[in-house]
This record gives sequence, C-alpha cells and structure tokens, in this order.
Amino acid sequence: MSELKKMNLIASSPTIDVYDDGENAVKIFKPDSAKTVVLYEALTHSRVEETGLPIPKVLEVRKIDGRWSIIMEKIEGQTMADALAENPNNAMKYLESFVDIQLKIHSKRSPKISKYKDFLMRKINETSLDDVKKYELATRLESMPKHVKLCHGNYSLENVILNKRGVFIVDWVAAKQGNASADVAKTYLLLSLKYPELAESYLDLFCKKSDTKKKYVQGWLPIMAAAQLKHAKSDEELELLNKWIDVVDYE
Ligand SMILES: Nc1ncnc2c1ncn2[C@@H]1O[C@H](COP(=O)(O)OP(=O)(O)O)[C@@H](O)[C@H]1O
Ligand SMILES: [Mg+2]
Repeated sequence: MSELKKMNLIASSPTIDVYDDGENAVKIFKPDSAKTVVLYEALTHSRVEETGLPIPKVLEVRKIDGRWSIIMEKIEGQTMADALAENPNNAMKYLESFVDIQLKIHSKRSPKISKYKDFLMRKINETSLDDVKKYELATRLESMPKHVKLCHGNYSLENVILNKRGVFIVDWVAAKQGNASADVAKTYLLLSLKYPELAESYLDLFCKKSDTKKKYVQGWLPIMAAAQLKHAKSDEELELLNKWIDVVDYE
C-alpha cells in the first residue's frame, strides 16, 4: 500500500505537500522536483539547526512513493497566519513577536550558508528586465553594506508556528547570510502582497526595535522586488513588483 495514503495532509503548495505521518512532519516534493533542490533544502535547514534557533530537526531524507521527501520533527500548534485569522484583534501582539523572532534570527551566524548578495545578483541577471535596469539594480546591490547576518529569506506569517512551548520557524530553503535589511524588505514585500494592512506596521515596528532607518530598508525594495518577479502569482502582483523596481529613492 502507498505510504502517502496513510498520512494526513497538513499543507500543500505547487511544489510540495506536507504530511503528518502520526509522529513526524513529512515534506514531500512534487514528482518533477529537482533532486538538487531537495538536498539543498535539507542541507541549508540542517545548517540553521546548528545555530540553536527553535526550528524542527531534519531526521531523514528519502523517497516516499517515488517522491523525494524531507522528514522532520513535527511542530504542534498553528501558524501565525492562522492565529491571526482567528484573532485579528491581536494583530499587533503577533507582529511584535514576529519581529522579535526575526531579530533573533539576524543575531545568528552561519558562515557556510549561501551569500544573499550572490543569490540576488544572479536573480537580477536572470530577470527579463532591460540591461540598463539590470545594471542599475546590480550597482545598487553592490553599494549596499556587506553583512553576514543569518536571514530567513522567506520570513512570513505562514512560516512561524506557535504552540505552548513557544514559537518555531520552518521553511529554511531560502536562508542566506547577508544584510538583515534585505530580509526585512523581503518580508515587507511578502506582507504587502498578502496582508497589505500589516505591512507598514511591520516595517515601523522592525525599524523601531532594531534602530534602523526606514529609508535604509526601502533602499532594498527594488532589488528584492526584482528577485521576486519570477514568482509573481497574478498580474496585480507583477504590477506591484514592477512599481517597486522603478522607485528610485524614498524621501
Ligand atoms: N516541521 C513542521 N511541523 C509542522 N508543520 C509544518 C512543519 N513544516 C512545515 N509545516 C507546515 O507546512 C506548511 C508548508 O511548509 P513549508 O516548509 O513552509 O513549505 P512551502 O515552501 O510550501 O511554504 C507550513 O506553513 C506549516 O504550516
Ligand atoms: Mg512556507
């Protein structure tokens, strides 16, 4: 009998399904996924485990019913996105803890993890933007202060799980070392697309707690928007991303 049929589906996306096998969480990649993507995710996730952050441990990588799978500790509880949907009045409380955890991530170092700058340079070059725009974005990226802070790379309300023991962070495939403001600009962008009413409060809160100038984070927006172009899910998203790419500077 198929192993998959015996498990409960927790979440699904175009590239993966996450199951509960009764004991662990099993992230099963869609049949056409590249092996490199799966192994890279498992390796990157394992590197982040070494920082001591509250994240599930990877236990095994193997094929299940012919599909590559990462088996990890299951985190009980609900995502911050679900908690917010249930208690919209607590939005500010959730945002506070959301920002505190992100600051904790940025306080960690993981010297072998991929460099954010290299990744972003590659993404800029891979876009279908014209050469002048690519050059402008590459120059902007080059001029940014070079840091080595651990960045989640995809820090969103869906990737934070809350339970009685505390707050846990999942989905580490995009983790990088680099400038924390890039990570914050990415989160701001993700929130603007899905929770537009929270995006500004998030940015204000992060800047206040970290004593960062808002303009400094906003300077990353054109770069992060360009890197996100390929992942736009609708014409509206594409339009918003293109608007950010074209913003020259914020006053
Ligand atoms: N270790 C885990 N324990 C419990 N739930 C998990 C675990 N890992 C992922 N999930 C759930 O599955 C969802 C999708 O997993 P995620 O790794 O974020 O994949 P995606 O890349 O599609 O966002 C998460 O938002 C979370 O709800
Ligand atoms: Mg996720």
